[in-house]
Amino acid sequence: MRHYPAMTERVSGAGLKKLRGDLLEWFDRHRRELPWRASRDPYRVWIAEVMLQQTRIAAVIPYYERFLARFPDVTALARAPEREVLKLWSGLGYYSRARNLHAAAEKIVAEHGGIFPRELGAALDLPGIGVYTAAAVLSIAYDVPLAVLDGNVARVLSRIGAVRGELRASENWTALQETADEYLVASRAGDWNQALMELGEVCCTPKSPTCLVCPVVHECRAYALGLTGEIPEPRRKRATVTVRIAAAVLVDPAGRTLLVRDPGAHDDVVFSRMWQFPAVAVKRNARDELLEHLRGTLGVDASLRLEKLAVAKHGVTFRDITLEPFLVRVEELPKVARTRVLALGKLGVVPVSGATRKIAERAGVVLGVTGAAKLKKAKRDPSARERASG
Ligand code: ADE
Repeated sequence: MRHYPAMTERVSGAGLKKLRGDLLEWFDRHRRELPWRASRDPYRVWIAEVMLQQTRIAAVIPYYERFLARFPDVTALARAPEREVLKLWSGLGYYSRARNLHAAAEKIVAEHGGIFPRELGAALDLPGIGVYTAAAVLSIAYDVPLAVLDGNVARVLSRIGAVRGELRASENWTALQETADEYLVASRAGDWNQALMELGEVCCTPKSPTCLVCPVVHECRAYALGLTGEIPEPRRKRATVTVRIAAAVLVDPAGRTLLVRDPGAHDDVVFSRMWQFPAVAVKRNARDELLEHLRGTLGVDASLRLEKLAVAKHGVTFRDITLEPFLVRVEELPKVARTRVLALGKLGVVPVSGATRKIAERAGVVLGVTGAAKLKKAKRDPSARERASG
């Protein structure tokens, strides 16, 4: 990294006026027709912003359309059972987003007459709504003058100001939020915020930004200094934690399997607190430790044969997870509370995580069952902010 002076001042005066005018004009001309831009209905904007928190636009669109078709308004969402909301979310990941969405819908119906609140404080009181989501929904739906700061906006602002250091470092993030607040066009807050996001998504991209067609290159300090390849600085990676999880696919002669709901003795991020195969985090001998777990939790026979299935890798944020699945053929599935029995090929009827689908797929190969893991996972957006856990 070459050394260059830290940002000392923001764009102001005539430069800021031109920056604002040129970016808004570009957005008016080039804005993409995205499904959530068809109206300014706060419900539709809210659902989109939550889905977009961790996921790329192209991956979100089909989920968004299915979700809106099934839950066209906040009352429909509030009335639905949580499992149905999770089912429509299945494959998008970070399932706490769906749980929070459902809980927030109930609160909006109970406390706000079914209308997404306009006040920042009330919006922040809703489950799953942080400063980014609140600013995005309130500005886009109601033109409340709040500036958003997500990964895309931060990259654009950091290049305009040639900001040194990691953007997520708290002093930098605070300074970037102040810059975003200062640049905001209060009379068109929603368009302004979306214009910055859009510029980051289609032009001021992390790699190979297309500066020659950028509408605000004239105010870009990183461009003037020849530093667009070095700003923003890459994020330092958090150390990876390695986890091994052994899981049991019990199958009876009719091809049915057993799912459990308890987080159990493993890192509950892996299965997102949804229906899953019985599983346990293991240290040494996966087979012995899994059998011990099955005996303790389901009372299965100690003499069962565990057939090793193909191992699967599963990465969740900073965890490097190895899934070690075993096939366990039984005459009869154990009858235990909080379990569910269903055909291995029909897993799609209940909400399951990506890890569960991978395990089902391994078992399906050996048993000749297709459709064991039908739903594909959506692509993450690496520039995402406000990551939900779970
Ligand atoms: N990313 C997150 N929200 C967005 C929006 N409203 N428009 C474009 N990109 C986005």
